[in-house]
Amino acid sequence: MIENIVSHGGRRKRRSGARSALVIGAAGALGAGLLALSTPAVAASTLGASAAERGRHFGAGVLAARLGESDYATVLNREFTMVTPENEMKWDAVEPARDSFTYATPDRIVSSAQSHDQQVRGHTLVWHSGLPAWVANLQSADDLRAAMNNHITNVMNHYKGQIYAWDVVNEAFQDGTGGARRDSLFQRRLGDGFIEEAFRTARAADPAAKLCYNDYNIDDAGQAKTRAVYDMVKDFRSRGVPIDCVGLQSHFSGQTPVPGNYRQNIERFAALGVDVQITQLDVEGAGSAQADGYRKVVDACLAVSRCTGITVWGVTDKYSWRGSATPLLFDADYGKKPAYDAVLAALNSDTPPPSSPPPSSPPPSSPPPTGGRTCGVTATTLSQWHGGYVVQPVRVTNTGASPITSWTVTFTLPPGHAVTRSWNASPTTSGRTVTVRNTAANGSLGGNAGTTFGFQGSRPRGDASVPSGYTCTAS
Ligand code: G3I
Repeated sequence: MIENIVSHGGRRKRRSGARSALVIGAAGALGAGLLALSTPAVAASTLGASAAERGRHFGAGVLAARLGESDYATVLNREFTMVTPENEMKWDAVEPARDSFTYATPDRIVSSAQSHDQQVRGHTLVWHSGLPAWVANLQSADDLRAAMNNHITNVMNHYKGQIYAWDVVNEAFQDGTGGARRDSLFQRRLGDGFIEEAFRTARAADPAAKLCYNDYNIDDAGQAKTRAVYDMVKDFRSRGVPIDCVGLQSHFSGQTPVPGNYRQNIERFAALGVDVQITQLDVEGAGSAQADGYRKVVDACLAVSRCTGITVWGVTDKYSWRGSATPLLFDADYGKKPAYDAVLAALNSDTPPPSSPPPSSPPPSSPPPTGGRTCGVTATTLSQWHGGYVVQPVRVTNTGASPITSWTVTFTLPPGHAVTRSWNASPTTSGRTVTVRNTAANGSLGGNAGTTFGFQGSRPRGDASVPSGYTCTAS
């Protein structure tokens, strides 16, 4: 069965699509029982787990210098499934002198992320700011071009296979009404073509990384800057210039609130055939007004299936680049703010499974048994990357008419794989066999009712396999 999850307007829908799924019935009893799924799943309790249930990442910008602070690390590793180095991968940080690359500090972030099953967004390869002085001193266009391509290639090679998405070019358009390119060193010396060249060089360096154009003030579909970036992405897509995603930085304040057309803006970019990621979200303010801004952003992202994740620009107000405006989800003492609660609630707003089956569910081949306790299980691989995957939802269905009080799902891990986190379930692993028993909250299922759980797995690099052999038993 092929199944794809599409969210729309805060409600999940299902349709035929590109994601793989397995359907295995227990005791030959799969069938009519799939027709009435009604048991709500238990809401996950962290941002990352809740976002994963919606097939998305939830990330934070991080500062290497703070990783050793216990509260910082605790919150970072509990709540977030993606990290972006705030400054440590910028040009001046990794290539302070020409052809002299220093990776020790960003390596610490990547290593920490990997040991906590977090993915990494690379920020950023080509940006007018954060440039070492030697770049500005290059005299000829050819020399600057060579330096840019060498920088991209070296940095991407160093992190090859370890980065989910790179902000290849950052902030190349100017604000205001003209929709013009920013008057940067690259623009002045290399002209419009530097963006395209950077993307082509990036694709050659690490073909597996998603390549993003990233900018601020491109959140409002009606603004000239947004339209200019849209036109560039459209042009790139039509000419085969390699671009996979657009990053909306989404720095909001009282002067620049979340635009009313934010969701439509995400939809418009997605319709060009690229993913959209919210890459540096923060909302100045406090209390319910701030919470409302965050909720709007989460709702908008969840409404567009190609909006693949949200990253907030820092863990705590204490270390925000604009900390006095208290723009983040955790206060300076690492307390959860109303904005945190609003984000979590928005992510969990739609946990019940749909009330009708996926259109591709097989028809019943025989009437379901009436006496025995039986269940069926389907598993959908929702997202994959180098080194891991999210399987969500794993749908357990009571395929009989009588209630069941417990169920057990087993499946087989390919060699070298591990279950690294889960939600709404308690898995144990023995060898390559994973046994998942119901939790206290989701074991009782009425006749023909169902529930879901999910998990994240890790796998060796270069391995594209996923777990298989799902079976379900009920009592
Ligand atoms: O760590 C040093 C410290 O040792 C020193 O005493 C101090 C003195 O100024 O500087 C500290 O470094 C600062 C660094 O942040 C770490 O906090 C830099 O000066 C400061 O320039 C740097 O600011 C960063 C800024 O980009 C400029 O690169 C912010 O952290 C970072 O959040 C911000 O991020 C940008 C994105 O890359 C692009 N989009 C906008 C966003 C916000 O400006």
